[in-house]
Amino acid sequence: MDRAMKSSNAIRSWEITSETNYLNRRQFLRETGLVAGAGIASVVLPGRLLADVRDLETVPGPYSTDEKPNSWQDITTYNNFYEFGTGKEDPYQNAQAFVTRPWTVKVSGECDQPGDYHYEDIVSPHTLEDRVYRHRCVEAWSMVVPWVGFPLGDLLKRFSPNSDAKYVRFKTLYDPKQMPGQRRRVLNWPYVEGLTIHEAMHPLTLMVVGIYGRTLPNQNGAPLRLVMPWKYGFKGIKSIVEIEFTRRQPRNSWQISAPREYGFYANVNPEVDHPRWSQARERRIGGGLFAAKQPTLMFNGYADQVAQLYAGLDLRKHF
Ligand code: MTE
Repeated sequence: MDRAMKSSNAIRSWEITSETNYLNRRQFLRETGLVAGAGIASVVLPGRLLADVRDLETVPGPYSTDEKPNSWQDITTYNNFYEFGTGKEDPYQNAQAFVTRPWTVKVSGECDQPGDYHYEDIVSPHTLEDRVYRHRCVEAWSMVVPWVGFPLGDLLKRFSPNSDAKYVRFKTLYDPKQMPGQRRRVLNWPYVEGLTIHEAMHPLTLMVVGIYGRTLPNQNGAPLRLVMPWKYGFKGIKSIVEIEFTRRQPRNSWQISAPREYGFYANVNPEVDHPRWSQARERRIGGGLFAAKQPTLMFNGYADQVAQLYAGLDLRKHF
């Protein structure tokens, strides 16, 4: 990484270009009727356009919101990734030299195909999809992000989980040499996260490898991170190196550090406040300093897709 480019406001020209091209491409897909929604198998685009527009081959995924995505700059310079510091710009500043290849994910626990899988083994059999999701942080800010990824469930099925696999536990890399934030005990390292097997298999749950049609920037969790758009952003564990199928409910890093404030489910819920602040409204990043906060939607607007996962569960108790 060129040091000169690291000053906090220096946005490289290709970063802007990638966003413009991405939006043009979506418009092109819409105008030509190529965005047919769920179930579309593949899209053939004219070669020249394709080469200009993206470095990840994607097809339009289902469930995208029509809301305007945040800019590349917002999405890649305002981050939470405590391994690289606790300030919002720290991950952008400190993660540029982070080495993400080769990358191996260890799969273990209640499954018939445990083992060490290379990044390429994990990603290449899957069709990458473009999905624009609302992204709501527990701190009451939100963004709209055009992720690139594939359904986590499609990957998990390849490891043949057995009937005792009730939960899935994920772990981030532990490498204090590369991750300066891990030299301080702000959290109990390495970062861990957990989902029920049904949440993990839900088609909205994405294993993400990119943004705006480009490879995932380090500060956003390269090379592999989770995104569950109906949950608070902290569930989206970054730079994953372990996947374990478990019988018992695993705890996540925020729950371990502050169990009264953060639960296992962490579903976006405007009716249940965080003990120290309201969760009813959110500030959309990029809207300007004086923009009004907007009401937060139950399950971040994905209730039709996911509410049945929690039928009968008291969401005040299971926050
Ligand atoms: N994953 C790891 N390993 N370390 C972290 O500090 N922060 C979480 C989550 N994943 C975090 C993490 C939090 S609090 C949020 S809000 C999201 O990442 C932020 O994702 P983004 O930076 O792509 O917006």
